[in-house]
Amino acid sequence: MTLRLGDLAPNFQAETTAGQIDFYEYLGDGWGVLFSHPADYTPVCTTELGTVAKLQKEFAKRNTKVMALSVDGLESHKGWIGDINETQGTEVNFPIIADEDRKVAGLYDMIHPNSNENFTVRSVFVIGNDKKIKLIITYPASTGRNFDELLRVIDSLQLTANYSVATPANWKHGEDVVIAPAIKDADIPSKFPKGHTVVKPYLRTTPQPDL
Ligand code: BEZ
Repeated sequence: MTLRLGDLAPNFQAETTAGQIDFYEYLGDGWGVLFSHPADYTPVCTTELGTVAKLQKEFAKRNTKVMALSVDGLESHKGWIGDINETQGTEVNFPIIADEDRKVAGLYDMIHPNSNENFTVRSVFVIGNDKKIKLIITYPASTGRNFDELLRVIDSLQLTANYSVATPANWKHGEDVVIAPAIKDADIPSKFPKGHTVVKPYLRTTPQPDL
């Protein structure tokens, strides 16, 4: 199934390292990240899952729950978690789906057969608290993901959801943001009391509103 931004994220029930999970129940009212990796006991994946474990507080601050997936089985995942904890100096504290029958991989189109028909690629889905898909990124197997970038995008998405702003190129937390084109000039002072700058009629900036 091909998913696109704005689509409803498909719900599923799956066997995970934290037991049987219903995805929507797991997400609750919050945001979610669902990401796949090619295989257990591989070097890049080991660093990725360790990195995500170390960032758990950052995801929690953003009311975002994380779930990983590969087509390896539960016993494999459990053994590998020991290696991740040992080598990455952390504790994997989020569920990893054992998608041996490829049910979830199929729902989220995580196997790209012309890349490799046996493994999931490095897919990332960010799911909003409305259960809609907000971000899709696909990385090749040989490139470990930048999870700081993922947090940055979640910050941007949550600002957009809450304040009618967008974020400019290379924006970082704390920098000025862009006022959404849909906001009329007359409404800016009441919506953005910290002030604003009109660079061009279509490019209006304001300090990050939630600080
Ligand atoms: C890795 O996680 O190291 C990896 C997995 C599949 C292909 C290449 C690298």
